[in-house]
Amino acid sequence: MLWMSTTAHAKKLMPTSATEIASQVDNLYSFLLISSFIACAILIGGMIYFAHKYKRKSVNAKSAYITHNVFLEFLWSFIPLVIFLAVFAWGWLIYHDMRTMPQNALEIHVRGKQWSWEAEYKSGVKTANLIKVPINKDVKLILTSTDVLHSFYVPSFRIKQDAVPGRYTSLWFKANKFGEFHIFCTEYCGTQHSGMLGKLHVVTQEEYDAWLEEESKFSTLPLAQKGEKLFQIKACSGCHSTADKSVKAGPALYQKFGTEEEIKDGSKVAVDEAYLRESILDPNAKIVKGFNGGVMPTFQGQVSEDELAALIEYLKTIK
Ligand code: CUA
Repeated sequence: MLWMSTTAHAKKLMPTSATEIASQVDNLYSFLLISSFIACAILIGGMIYFAHKYKRKSVNAKSAYITHNVFLEFLWSFIPLVIFLAVFAWGWLIYHDMRTMPQNALEIHVRGKQWSWEAEYKSGVKTANLIKVPINKDVKLILTSTDVLHSFYVPSFRIKQDAVPGRYTSLWFKANKFGEFHIFCTEYCGTQHSGMLGKLHVVTQEEYDAWLEEESKFSTLPLAQKGEKLFQIKACSGCHSTADKSVKAGPALYQKFGTEEEIKDGSKVAVDEAYLRESILDPNAKIVKGFNGGVMPTFQGQVSEDELAALIEYLKTIK
């Protein structure tokens, strides 16, 4: 009874658990926590009790000459050994489940980039910082990075995996709760590392199908709307504000088109299509005054001509 209530309490200290694996991890974690508390109570309690019980009562009192006790020594070695081996086996079994990729899973490509998570579904649908999945379905994420090391972490699913440039790593989960769960980057990856956040959205199969259908209309969207999506997907929004004039890692782009920008050497440049194009493909060509440059990667070869046009048309709409 005590065990049950303490376990329940220990679980409350953890983020919501939204997969079967997460519950298993929590059970093991609760066991570790509670057995550590019990061991601590026995050790410290015993120490205080015996220190009091065998306290020297008079100046001449002599303590008994005790060398060792084989039975006791065997017990305090053997019992912890059994517990540690059990914890090892328990942990290994969970880890084995975590690392065994399910067959016929819904596969989604996820790419870490400074500083967002791009997801690409098999239908070609791309999202930024949002992964939508149906409930009770095996999902496998195929991870990589386009620049530096990132680490994909969903606390509620108790899964974490590095995204490494130049290679694929993978992760799987089967969500059993509806809702939105945090995606964190847990590998320091530059100035906006702490802002590299995403949402994992668990919905019904019907909602998922409808969403995917809706998203696949991307190619027929008007240019500016396409550009707005690309602005998220290409991670521009991580560094450039488009909602107001606040400065993030880069200059705000809100109400920028059609104005004049003062650049580092003091000269002025008109913010037009040509300037935006140059700044996307060769970010260090004309650095805005107040910025150091060298932060934004070049998008040469990363955006096509029609994507460039869409991005520029989007920036025009927020002037
Ligand atoms: Cu990506 Cu930290």
